[in-house]
Amino acid sequence: MTMQYRRCGRSGVLLPEISLGLWHNFGAADPREEARALVGRALELGICHFDLADNYGPPPGAAEERFGELLHNEFASHRDEMFISTKAGHLMWPGPYGDWGSKKHLIAGLDASLRRLKLDYVDVFYSHRPDPETPLEETVEALVQIVRSGKALYVGLSKYPPTQFLRACELLEAAGVRCLVHQFRYNLLDRAAEAGMLPETRRKRIGSVVFSPLAQGVLTGKYLANNRPADSRAMRADSPFLDAERAAAQEALVARYAALAREAGMPLTELALRWLLSREGVSSVLIGARRVQQLEQCASAAGKDPLDADLLEQLEQ
Ligand SMILES: NC(=O)c1ccc[n+]([C@@H]2O[C@H](COP(=O)([O-])OP(=O)(O)OC[C@H]3O[C@@H](n4cnc5c(N)ncnc54)[C@H](OP(=O)(O)O)[C@@H]3O)[C@@H](O)[C@H]2O)c1
Repeated sequence: MTMQYRRCGRSGVLLPEISLGLWHNFGAADPREEARALVGRALELGICHFDLADNYGPPPGAAEERFGELLHNEFASHRDEMFISTKAGHLMWPGPYGDWGSKKHLIAGLDASLRRLKLDYVDVFYSHRPDPETPLEETVEALVQIVRSGKALYVGLSKYPPTQFLRACELLEAAGVRCLVHQFRYNLLDRAAEAGMLPETRRKRIGSVVFSPLAQGVLTGKYLANNRPADSRAMRADSPFLDAERAAAQEALVARYAALAREAGMPLTELALRWLLSREGVSSVLIGARRVQQLEQCASAAGKDPLDADLLEQLEQ
């Protein structure tokens, strides 16, 4: 497998087909050595894009602290080979300024992230989610200030619905800053992006980094037939977004995809990732591997031919 790199929209940035996110695999309770091995192996595999957010852990802040410590002590000489993103916009501290999309929150949020990461700047800073109360103009003003201050080279948006995304892009462009990338959920079990964000990012030639490509592990097939691996995300008490019930919710569909993968002679994990890499407009697929072996399995989906037309058609049915 050789990692391939894709242009992120109409920009100078190339992203690896597979990127590594640190949402639930870099918590304070996760062993430092495993985290170190993940970063080191990712770099060896050409996975040079690391996606963080201020609230990743658990607890919030822990992923940035761990990554910052590793970067500082073990990988400092690789900084320019890495593309590092972070985000603000989810709850981080008490009081009226600890959440959402005000200029007050975003500027303070990024400053705190830079301290934890022990960096002077990140490569991309995202508004993590749209804020229904703060005027979009204010959120965009914060993003523009962040680029002008040099604390982020580029800015991105995450989980914005199309109308707000397009308006934010317009406001950014009017201020002379282009939105580099939009981040949204997209996988074989959740295709909402096809009627929402994906056509818009394609049309605007803005990068699409897609998250939860394995539906948090469900699309590896490891939860099929009532299997519940003891150390899996669905069984962890500190992982509120996947539980045994949710892992079973689309069992029949997952079983069908697993059968198609078997017929095609590849693991379901590879099928799920290569399907995303076959979708026009996807810049990078953002995985959340927790162990080196998982990382290697996911990385093996990169650099391969697009899935053949018959298989793609069957996946549409
Ligand atoms: N912008 C946003 O709001 C947003 C939201 C969500 C995620 N994200 C980003 O997207 C990244 C990925 O999201 P995600 O963690 O949901 O992605 P994912 O790749 O769909 O799921 C990751 C989970 O899948 C399991 N897994 C991965 N590879 C495996 C393999 N080969 N075999 C068995 N299990 C495997 C691991 O589960 P176990 O823990 O069970 O071993 C891991 O915890 C995040 O880290 C974050 O950077 C962004």
